[in-house]
Amino acid sequence: MRCIKRYGLACVAIFLLILYINHQAQYALSNDEHGENHRKRRSRDYNEPNISYDDEENGVGAFDEVETVNRVLDSRQCRMENCFNDANCKKHGFKVYIYPRKEEYGTLSANYLKILNSIKRTPYYTENISEACIKILSVDSIDRDPLSKERYVKNFAGRLSQIPTWNNGENHLVFNLYSGTWPDYLEDLGFDLGHAMLAKASISYQKYRSGFDVSLPLWGETHPAKGKHYAESAIAKWPSFGAHLMSFKGKRYLNGIGSVTRNSLYHLHDGSRSVMLTTCRHGKDWEKLCPNRECLDKCAADNEEYDRWDYISLLKNSTFCLVPRGRRLGSFRFIETLQQACVPVVLADDWVLPFSEVIDWERSTINWDEKLLLELGQHLEDVSPANVLRMRQEGANLYSTYFSSVDQIVKTTLEIIRQRIFPEASAPQFVWNSTPGALSLVPNLRPSNTPFYIEKKEHSLDTKFTALIHTVQTVPSSAAPIIKLIKNLWKTESCGQVIVLWACEHPPPVDSRWPPPPKGKSFLLLREDELKVSNRLFPYDQIEYDAVLSLDNDVSLHPEEIAFAFSTWLSFPERIVGFPSRRHYNRSSSKTTPWRYTSQWGNHYSIVLTGAAIIHKYYFHLFQSLPSTMLKKVNDYSNCEDILMNFMVSDISGQPPVKVTQKKQYMTKTDSTEPQPVVGKLASRWENNAHFTERQQCMNFFVDEYGTVPLIDTEVRFDPLLFRDDVARMRKKYPNVDTVET
Ligand SMILES: *[C@@H]1O[C@H](CO)[C@@H](O)[C@H](O)[C@H]1NC(C)=O
Ligand SMILES: *[C@@H]1O[C@H](CO)[C@@H](O)[C@H](O)[C@H]1NC(C)=O
Ligand SMILES: *[C@@H]1O[C@H](CO)[C@@H](O)[C@H](O)[C@H]1NC(C)=O
Ligand SMILES: *[C@@H]1O[C@H](CO)[C@@H](O)[C@H](O)[C@H]1NC(C)=O
Repeated sequence: MRCIKRYGLACVAIFLLILYINHQAQYALSNDEHGENHRKRRSRDYNEPNISYDDEENGVGAFDEVETVNRVLDSRQCRMENCFNDANCKKHGFKVYIYPRKEEYGTLSANYLKILNSIKRTPYYTENISEACIKILSVDSIDRDPLSKERYVKNFAGRLSQIPTWNNGENHLVFNLYSGTWPDYLEDLGFDLGHAMLAKASISYQKYRSGFDVSLPLWGETHPAKGKHYAESAIAKWPSFGAHLMSFKGKRYLNGIGSVTRNSLYHLHDGSRSVMLTTCRHGKDWEKLCPNRECLDKCAADNEEYDRWDYISLLKNSTFCLVPRGRRLGSFRFIETLQQACVPVVLADDWVLPFSEVIDWERSTINWDEKLLLELGQHLEDVSPANVLRMRQEGANLYSTYFSSVDQIVKTTLEIIRQRIFPEASAPQFVWNSTPGALSLVPNLRPSNTPFYIEKKEHSLDTKFTALIHTVQTVPSSAAPIIKLIKNLWKTESCGQVIVLWACEHPPPVDSRWPPPPKGKSFLLLREDELKVSNRLFPYDQIEYDAVLSLDNDVSLHPEEIAFAFSTWLSFPERIVGFPSRRHYNRSSSKTTPWRYTSQWGNHYSIVLTGAAIIHKYYFHLFQSLPSTMLKKVNDYSNCEDILMNFMVSDISGQPPVKVTQKKQYMTKTDSTEPQPVVGKLASRWENNAHFTERQQCMNFFVDEYGTVPLIDTEVRFDPLLFRDDVARMRKKYPNVDTVET
């Protein structure tokens, strides 16, 4: 009897213990829903990453039964180290896979379709799931608000369970712009994310898994799909203060979450320094939300004022633009404000600003405590004009680099994740926060390999250059143009190396035919097995110097022309600096292919041909990582590589190319107003009739691919000091340039 009792007691004790463990599990679960506990734990996580959460939190670490608890905790505690499997990434590189579409998933929202298409345009895209590092669902997760009706995909969890490779979300990336619903707008997705990474707009510090999730901006359906677009010129905004110190135009909610901040705004309205326009109109039946006559009258008056102001002009005319939280933490205003080069004032206390893992927003935004709204005006008055201008410019640069199209947003998201997996190939913080930014660094390049960030460099630019001669013709005698060209290169002091890129089906001539290099200079013959035209812009390991003078084999250049071009390039290493120039223009009469290419002589140009131009080697690396569709076009036509290079360089640098003093031989003589192909011996490779038509097609194709025309028109030409001036020769640094003619 006693014995049974004792065992019974033991049973009860075990039962109680099990209950206790269960309780702990649920306790942990319920904590997950509420931020408070997490915030404490999160802040501790940063300092002591080695402490195991399970042991600490529950004090039951010794029990095997906590397995399920661990699993639940894990997805909230996810970091790359514990929830992401990088084996495939290390093996196959950073490859992103998108699941095939299925009929039953319904139609994709415009935004999700743009995201998927952007991913497909990156070099990371793969169609082979077994080499995937990141997997992307083709079930639309953009809008997880059930009130959104058709955009909300029902039974999401059920669909996930149909995907055999879902594996509790491991190595998946889920995109979301809207989550939660009326009335409290909790950031609920309506399915278990598991170990999947979340790229989400309006994410709060409570939900954000630092170093694992990505905070996105919110963008509208009209946001461009492709290309880098510039913000409204921030530089032109001087004096930097606009007509209005601060402004806001938007809805105010009569009730519910987000209403407090927006409702407070109209107290700041004075119609000149501070323009705060709010309307009660939102949803249907908003009138019913007004408790009394006074409220209705106030709304009517506000609506009238609201309708008087144009939103975009207001943004353009304001120094600071308010970005208060709405129902959710983020709003379209953030991007719109940056686009108009207005300084965003963020009023959304818990919001993790977009891409804040890499972007230092303190330099371009003001983050203001929602509760201190009434003190905002004074604070903004005190910001100095110089700081305002700097913030505007930095904000505008961030906009064009990372936010100006869905392409840029998606590329930035992927780049952040790629850098977490390959920290050894990541861009430093200063690169992220300056132009041209981290998206312009191909993974194997360091900032010191680029023409940018000069002030951060240990070493300045090389003071010599490599000449790379693309050779498509045999060298029958030592009178061939290429021999003369090489001789002139040897006479140019700054030329340190000549590489002949042999892209001719016939074998090269005997070694003795090449003019021998003077002391301290080197000569190299590179034979190409694959005669692809894109290879002439390849960053060969053998290229010794930062600057590459790209040449056609039939070019004739005088040593002084070359020396002057190189000295000019040293001042503009981020641009293409060269001799023959061309121009693009649009003929609006043709809707489908409006872009035209012309070689007509004129004061304007936007292209400098790579048949005789100096280009930083960095651009050769970038050129080879351009989307394969564009490189294929170039190789299929065996043409247009120079146009593409000009597109790329202007896109990255935001600058036109530079044309330097040139000899008469490059001139095109034509009286016709329509563009004429250039004919003539020396121009032959640059333009003959068939090539010319192809070049028009290329240009329209590239514009399509880029989503914009990055080419920039210019009228600037650089000549040596005293060029053509009637002064003594001895006074001129480049006296022969004046007289060179052939
Ligand atoms: C914490 O982990 C890191 C990397 O795993 C290790 O280098 C470091 O020594 C650990 N610190 C402690 C206190 O164990
Ligand atoms: C997919 O990738 C795996 C791993 O690299 C490879 O073995 C397989 O052949 C690839 N399949 C296809 C269809 O390319
Ligand atoms: C800016 O405000 C001034 C004064 O209110 C007005 O005259 C001007 O047209 C506005 N500019 C724009 C671009 O809206
Ligand atoms: C072409 O130029 C005209 C005026 O020169 C301009 O109005 C039009 O917007 C341009 N078209 C494109 C596609 O940029």
